[in-house]
Amino acid sequence: MTVHTVPAVTFSTASAPESSSELLVIPVFEQDELKDLAGLDNATGGEVGRARGRGEFRGRLYELFFTPAGRDGWRAARVVLAGAGPRKEFTTERLRRLATTAVLAARQRRVLRISLLHRAHEGVDAHAFAQAMAEGIVLANFNGASYKTNGDALPWLESAELVFSGGDKSIERFVERGRVLGECSNLARELANEPSNALTPRVFADRAAALAEAAGLNVEILNETQIEKLGMGLLLGVAKGSIEPPRVIVLRHEPKGAPKSPVLGLIGKGITFDTGGISIKPAENMDRMKDDMAGGAAVLGATIAAARLGAPVRMVTIIPTTENMPSGTAIKPGDVLRSAEGKTVEVLNTDAEGRLILGDGLWYAKQLGATHLVDVATLTGACIVALGKSTSGLFGTPDAWVETVERASERAGDRSWPMPLYPDYFEQLKSEIADFSNTGGRPAGAITAALFIKEFAGDLPWVHIDIAGTAWADETKPYQTKGATGVAVRTLAELALDAERWRDLR
Ligand code: BES
Ligand code: MN
Ligand code: ZN
Repeated sequence: MTVHTVPAVTFSTASAPESSSELLVIPVFEQDELKDLAGLDNATGGEVGRARGRGEFRGRLYELFFTPAGRDGWRAARVVLAGAGPRKEFTTERLRRLATTAVLAARQRRVLRISLLHRAHEGVDAHAFAQAMAEGIVLANFNGASYKTNGDALPWLESAELVFSGGDKSIERFVERGRVLGECSNLARELANEPSNALTPRVFADRAAALAEAAGLNVEILNETQIEKLGMGLLLGVAKGSIEPPRVIVLRHEPKGAPKSPVLGLIGKGITFDTGGISIKPAENMDRMKDDMAGGAAVLGATIAAARLGAPVRMVTIIPTTENMPSGTAIKPGDVLRSAEGKTVEVLNTDAEGRLILGDGLWYAKQLGATHLVDVATLTGACIVALGKSTSGLFGTPDAWVETVERASERAGDRSWPMPLYPDYFEQLKSEIADFSNTGGRPAGAITAALFIKEFAGDLPWVHIDIAGTAWADETKPYQTKGATGVAVRTLAELALDAERWRDLR
């Protein structure tokens, strides 16, 4: 079943009254005098003035006020004032969410051809405004309840016109960028929402291959024999408990004319279901663990976006994918595994499986020539304790590379926050029998997990993004559908698109 479509998103330089659609969305700040929209009150037969006068609409963030328009030569049938909050606090992130809010509300009203008005703001330039609006629109054209058979899903938005009165042509490119980033986020959301019986490692690999090939990427899928030949003992160890064989998804973006270096290496955790293995998880909320491949879906979505938008940098993307199951063949606590890189790991807790498969994944990205690494994973409950549900944890070295990823995440609206990686924490991972163990106990659990992965990054610039809290929305918000969020897709795509900024970073 289709769970997302991309509406036609067009760009126009018409004025607000000239814009003809079923619904014109107008961002309105608190205490906004709407001086640039002098005719709006008359066009709505005085409704806008009345609503603001009696405080029915105050411009609070994500507040909506619908009213018929169409008088005084205005061509839109209706307008909706969309609360943008205090002018000073406005950001691209708020705008993106505001666009999503407006489109979700329009779909609920069966209004499917809309236009959205640009309002000048000192902090958000026209390019960023257009891109964020396009992203927000596309993100709203997504249905979570993909297996319901009652047919009462919301209808799809058909078209959205971005109205930039007097805007210039250069904006158009950013509309396209936003449209693709929105679509690729939705792609990742679709995959992460899939139940584990539908999305096994083999199905994940097949679907990733089809999507990536369509985007012009070079695709290779490694099967269990090839994985064994490469000696990926950490991935194979996790996979041993399952009847489903593991896969490694390998994508390469090799744009014509791009220099040999840098090569951006993206690695995503692809656990299609995490039971915990023999160190089994409690039953409560275990269903959530179907999204334990959200990191893999994110790097897939980002790589596809980079290919489609012609990111000027070579990329190699690795998604190790397997189930983590308990069974007679599963690894057991205390077992020792040998990584492809040669290091040995004592598995003290089979539920710390993400770092294991990422270890071999990072090694393979390096083998294939990556010079700059970023891994993304729903890695630790500890990261949720530390940063909650709205902020991803950032770990890595050197600081300049972490800051580069942080800035990309800010542009993308994927909130993230840097965490420390003091080497002393590594003592928590010591093992009596092997090079180190896979668990560091409860204190600083997100950090010790990152330090484990760091062992496989070698001397390369490396960032780890822990999306355990941010990959999944438990609550419906005006701007958010429950379920997979597509976090990190836009961050990584921004990183690839703006490779100029970090090309020389070592
Ligand atoms: N996939 C989980 C992390 C997770 C937990 C993601 C909750 C989203 C929500 C990961 O594989 C895991 O089980 N981590 C353990 C590590 C521990 C055993 C050291 C954890 O966080 O409890
Ligand atoms: Mn686990
Ligand atoms: Zn996991």
